[in-house]
Amino acid sequence: MKLGELWRTTPFRLTLLNGAVFALAVLALMGLIYQQTAGYLGRQMDGIVVSNARVLALGGAERLPERVNQAVASDARHIEYYGLFSAEGVWITGNVHALPPGFRIDGTPREIKAPNLQPGSRALAERLPWGEILFVGHDALVLSGLRDIVIRALAVSGGLALVLGLAAAAALSLRPLQRIDALREASRAALKGQLGVRLPVSRRRDEMDMLAGVANAMMDEAERLLWEVKSVGENVAHDLRTPLNRLRALLYRVSQETKLEGAEREMIERALAETDELLTRFRALQRIGEIERRDRQAFFEPVRLQSVLEHVIELHEPSAEDRGVELAAEIAPDAAEVQADPTLLFEAVSNVVDNALKFTPKGGRVKIRLLARPEGPRIEVADNGPGVPEAERDAVLQRFYRAERTRNAPGSGLGLSIVSAIARLHHFTLVLEDAKPGLKVALNCWPRGMEA
Ligand SMILES: Nc1ncnc2c1ncn2[C@@H]1O[C@H](COP(=O)(O)OP(=O)(O)OP(=O)(O)O)[C@@H](O)[C@H]1O
Ligand SMILES: [Mg+2]
Repeated sequence: MKLGELWRTTPFRLTLLNGAVFALAVLALMGLIYQQTAGYLGRQMDGIVVSNARVLALGGAERLPERVNQAVASDARHIEYYGLFSAEGVWITGNVHALPPGFRIDGTPREIKAPNLQPGSRALAERLPWGEILFVGHDALVLSGLRDIVIRALAVSGGLALVLGLAAAAALSLRPLQRIDALREASRAALKGQLGVRLPVSRRRDEMDMLAGVANAMMDEAERLLWEVKSVGENVAHDLRTPLNRLRALLYRVSQETKLEGAEREMIERALAETDELLTRFRALQRIGEIERRDRQAFFEPVRLQSVLEHVIELHEPSAEDRGVELAAEIAPDAAEVQADPTLLFEAVSNVVDNALKFTPKGGRVKIRLLARPEGPRIEVADNGPGVPEAERDAVLQRFYRAERTRNAPGSGLGLSIVSAIARLHHFTLVLEDAKPGLKVALNCWPRGMEA
């Protein structure tokens, strides 16, 4: 399964979108928690700063430097800052040696930014009643710890959400994709002309099943129409055969019972021949319909192609001799048996050999071969006659089509249509090739699409 296909499926995108929305929600929640907590901690720090300053100031001016030093000394975590300055701002004592520039001396705690302090640290500076300036600050170590926690939590949960989201999206899209593959497979068979195939429908009756159901209904209707169209010609052939037979009988009686001579007799004979030709065509048309409608498996059995070919050769040897065409055979003894209708196979090969003998001029040569290919047996009938030009090779398989250069030979153009109907019924492939010179007709006796 390709990644691009996965990406294009709706479940995959929906799951990813869901994941993204969820991740955003988590981000917002964490952000809110951090912001609220930071506000709360800021207020706490303000309280600490204010009370520290008050405790120091309450003791009065006397021994204030000493108490400041004590406070500095007792701060084991080094998160508190004290500075005592003279009224002119000269440092007296404490671990802060200079007032931050521009820091307002009004006793109100505010945020203080300094390179050695964590962001969010709070401090106040106040002028004591006796003029000195006291600076008290509190580092925001807790706050930065909290921020680290939040960021780490975001990173971990984000990574997890990404991995889980992708996995869930892939897992959720896999089944629909597999079903689409199954649908595609079935439609491919339908496109290749297999009329009986329908798209698989599951028991879930979901949207895909609904679509498959609609497509199946369309295919039912298409198949019905196709059969109707196909049977039109056949019905005509069927309906016209009786009057034609009567006409033939009449002509025959005329030719037998009247004493026609010369040109008139010749005309009656020609009319008889034409009627015979018409009857042959109608029979062939009906035959094609019969083959196409045949219950596929009913007459199938394991068939030894060697004996089918031997029969065909036996049947055609006399006519080959009459025409002065050499009929040669090369039959692989090890060609596998095939599941087939032996009568139809015989008919197909017979038709092809009949063509080869008919179109090959006197002194020519027709060669029948049975080859054992890895995929299955292959029957070849090659002649060195006029051949069929590449452009006409598809057309000669159609009903009534007769190639330009051989139109003078007798025939109705239905033989190869019968052969190709028989090949289709067996899922074999009929191939026309150039025998250089001449035509080579091959029947690959293995299911279509299994070529190596
Ligand atoms: N071996 C061949 N060499 C040259 N042309 C051929 C050969 N086999 C078939 N064809 C061409 O293909 C056309 C169609 O063949 P097909 O067997 O369907 O009809 P046909 O032989 O003319 O008539 P029918 O078989 O119905 O008596 C032929 O008319 C001929 O033009
Ligand atoms: Mg023919």
